[in-house]
Amino acid sequence: MSAFDVATIRQDFPILARRVHGRPLTYLDNAATSQKPTAVIQALERYYSESNANVHRGVHLLSEQATTAYESARQTVAKFLGLKDARGCVFVRGATEGINLVADCWGRAHLRSGDEILITHLEHHANIVPWQVVAERTGAKLVVAPVTSRGEVDLEAFKKLLSPRTKLVAFAHVSNALGTVNPAVEMTRLAKAVGATVLIDACQAAAHFKVDVPALGCDFYVFSGHKTFGPTGIGVLWGRPEILDAMPPYQYGGDMIRKVDFDGTTYREAPERFEAGTPHIAGALGLAAALDYFMPRQVGAHAHEQKLLAAATERLKAIKGLTIVGEAPEKVAVISFLLEGGHPHDVGTLLDADGIAIRTGHHCCMPLMKHLGISGTARASFAFYNTFEEVDRLAISLEKVRKMMA
Ligand code: ALA
Repeated sequence: MSAFDVATIRQDFPILARRVHGRPLTYLDNAATSQKPTAVIQALERYYSESNANVHRGVHLLSEQATTAYESARQTVAKFLGLKDARGCVFVRGATEGINLVADCWGRAHLRSGDEILITHLEHHANIVPWQVVAERTGAKLVVAPVTSRGEVDLEAFKKLLSPRTKLVAFAHVSNALGTVNPAVEMTRLAKAVGATVLIDACQAAAHFKVDVPALGCDFYVFSGHKTFGPTGIGVLWGRPEILDAMPPYQYGGDMIRKVDFDGTTYREAPERFEAGTPHIAGALGLAAALDYFMPRQVGAHAHEQKLLAAATERLKAIKGLTIVGEAPEKVAVISFLLEGGHPHDVGTLLDADGIAIRTGHHCCMPLMKHLGISGTARASFAFYNTFEEVDRLAISLEKVRKMMA
């Protein structure tokens, strides 16, 4: 694909052709969940209509086909993450489950009273609460690095909070609420320098730019399928295989055991060690179809989204009484904003009447909102299938809302 052809790409996403309240759908809630191309929808249908069977268990043809497809999906995930070896790629329900798994299994095995877990103020609840709970259980302390008024992690403060007591550092690659891209390589390097283990929540990064896990140097990397054009209920936890193999399992059951005896049970290594029970086979196949669709378009997608971000930022800034929350120089195409005199929920409801879908509220980032001194924002989040015409529609509709609020 030479030029980035959005019109052709949109034809691959059937839902984008629908109307909402009699208007063309303008879907700007991609940070909550992305839309799915036909290739993903067909992968799910093909699996259930042609080769549905359990994996790793049957000698019959369908089971062999399902197993081959499932393991090939794992290879696709590895390629997507820039990895040669797929063994550290564990299929989970989503990033939330991936983080909970690490907090529970790694955290309970390694954290002790006096240890510290360092996170940042811009984390999603899913990258706060599991650490809070494991801290309570182990006696470790949760330490939080502040963010600046532009919505960036305060790197100087982050550095000062790191010490030999820091055993685990967890941070978002990209902020879901503000769109800030964190300097993940630098943050990982600093954390590693004090001997900490590093987890990166890539939920909002994976759909926006090429990720390269080996270049990041982290120990765990998690993302959700549904935000990366794949199905809901499937996601990936990547961990260094040697770390995963040394962790106790998360759940116990079929496929994750080596030998079961009433005298004792032994477990397999990763990834099966963490995939107890029948996995979400269709989800894994759907995710692989999404990544296969996305990977060849990734570079063009990123460039297009950055142009959308610039255009939308300029248009929104020109609206009287509108303030953008989070203006880090490095951002994905996410714009959080406040409109004077209008509660974000009212703004969202009025935009919906024009067929424009955005998210409003705290975006599962209550501590960040408190830190910024607000209760929530309205948030427009873009994907590579969005258009400049949709930026126009958003700006025109917001201007209308502003006049209604005035
Ligand atoms: N975490 C998702 C969001 O930011 C749901 O909207």
